[in-house]
Amino acid sequence: MTNDDLASRAARLIAALRESRKYGAVSEDALFRVAETACRGHRRDSDALKAAKRKLHQACGAFEAGNRDLVKATRHLLKATPRDADPIVIRSALTPLLQHHASTHERLPFLDRYFREVFGITGLPRTLLDLGGGLGPLCRPWMGLAPDALILHRELDGHLVEVVTTVSAHFDWPIDSAVHDALSPIASPTAEVTLLLKLLPLLERARKNSSLEVLRRIPSGFVVVSFPTQSLSGRNKGMATQYADFMDSLASSLDTMPTRIDFPNELVYVWKVKASD
Ligand SMILES: C[S@@+](CC[C@H](N)C(=O)[O-])C[C@H]1O[C@@H](n2cnc3c(N)ncnc32)[C@H](O)[C@@H]1O
Repeated sequence: MTNDDLASRAARLIAALRESRKYGAVSEDALFRVAETACRGHRRDSDALKAAKRKLHQACGAFEAGNRDLVKATRHLLKATPRDADPIVIRSALTPLLQHHASTHERLPFLDRYFREVFGITGLPRTLLDLGGGLGPLCRPWMGLAPDALILHRELDGHLVEVVTTVSAHFDWPIDSAVHDALSPIASPTAEVTLLLKLLPLLERARKNSSLEVLRRIPSGFVVVSFPTQSLSGRNKGMATQYADFMDSLASSLDTMPTRIDFPNELVYVWKVKASD
C-alpha cells in the first residue's frame, strides 16, 4: 500500500467514525492515530472500521454509560438545580451524572476523603490540570478548591468536554475544557497540580512505553497518577501488584519517590516534580 493509498483509506475511515454517534466527537489526532493503525493492519475497509471502533471502545467508549442519556441527564440537572443552590444539593444533583462515567462512579463512595488526602500532600491548587479527565471536574464540590481556582480539563471525547463545560458554566466555576489527545505532541497547559487518574494504562495500551514520555512533558508542580485495582467488571486480577510494579519502574526512571495512597478500588501516587536544571 502506498502512502497515498494509506492516507486516502485513513481519511475514509475517519469520515465514517465522525458519523458514529459514539465516536463522532473524539479528538482529530486520536482518530487519525487509530485510523492509520487500523488501515495498516487490515486490507478491507470494513475490517479496519471494526478494529478502529474496538480501539476507541478501549480508550473511551467502555467507560461511558451512553452519551444520549448523559446529555439528557445534564439538561435535567441544570434545570432543577439553580447555580446558588446549597452545596449539598449541588453534590446530590451531580451524583447521577458522575455515575455515567465508570471512573467517577467507582470513586463516589470515598470522594471526600480522596481529594482531602491528595491535596493534603500537594496543597490546594489554584490551577489544576485534569488530563484524560473524563467527568472529573464535576467533582469540584468535593475538592475544597477556592472559588477562583481554575480547572484545566483535557479529554479525548468531545461529548464529555461538552458536559463539563455546560455544567461549569451553569455553576460559574472557572473552567478551560478542551478536546485533546494526551499522546499528541501538543503541550499540556501549565498547572500547579496535574491529575492523570486511571489514564496511564490506557495510554500504554494505545502506545507501549508512552507513559514516561507523557509524564516527562508535564509542566506541573505536582503530579498525581492513579491506577484501578479492579477491572470494569469488578474483578480483582492482581492489578494492584501489577500497577505498583509498573509505577516503581516509572518512579525510578523519573528519579522520584512518590507518596502512595491506597483507596478501596484505586491506587494513587503523588510526587513533587523536580525543577529542571
Ligand atoms: C479510565 S478513564 C479516567 C477518567 C478520569 N481521569 C477519572 O479517573 O475519573 C480515562 C479517560 O481518559 C480518556 N482518554 C483515553 N485516552 C486518552 C488520550 N489519549 N488522551 C486524552 N484522554 C484520553 C477517556 O475518554 C476517559 O474519559
